[in-house]
Amino acid sequence: MARIAVRDGITHMIATPHCLDGVHDCRAVDILKCSAQFSLELVNAGIPLRVYPGAEIRLVPEILDLLAQKQLLTLGGLGKSLLIELPEQFVEEWIWNTLCQLLSSGLHIIIAHPERNMVLEQNPTFVKNLIRMGVEFQLTASSLPGRFESFMKQSFVLDLLTSKSVSYIASDAHDATQRKPLLHKGYKRIASILGSSFAEEMAASSFDLIGK
Ligand SMILES: [Fe+2]
Repeated sequence: MARIAVRDGITHMIATPHCLDGVHDCRAVDILKCSAQFSLELVNAGIPLRVYPGAEIRLVPEILDLLAQKQLLTLGGLGKSLLIELPEQFVEEWIWNTLCQLLSSGLHIIIAHPERNMVLEQNPTFVKNLIRMGVEFQLTASSLPGRFESFMKQSFVLDLLTSKSVSYIASDAHDATQRKPLLHKGYKRIASILGSSFAEEMAASSFDLIGK
């Protein structure tokens, strides 16, 4: 996967294993350990890729307590940005209140793959309100050509993009065959829809997440 990423032009990557999603539950201490081990292996293998620790954390009621206990990892482990996955179904008021609490604690909140969430798709006003409250969205790069069309409307992706509601794209890499660490085509697509300067700014904001 690291070699695939490098061939695609990726130089830095935040690894964001699932956390609290009901199947996987990677906690900060383990992610930090694995990330350090993997970084060492990359150096030993001569692969020019920098990997930073992070997590994609499902928004669950215990999230605030777990954060206070330092069990959850922010992006890059810097204590600034949290990558959040919304539940598939949710009550808007609860999501709103919990995100408000996270934001008021000083965290920068990024919602992963909004395009896959039916509740968001059906509630454009809620999406707008989330953006107004300061939440940012991260689109999966492979959503741009429509890979997830079977359970997602491409028009929702275009709405998110043309309203400049997407702040980041990510590979959502899971393996070396089906869900690969690829971003180049995604940025090209962003550039063709919103212009190359927008795509460049988007890439630069991703580097900001790791303080580069
Ligand atoms: Fe996810």
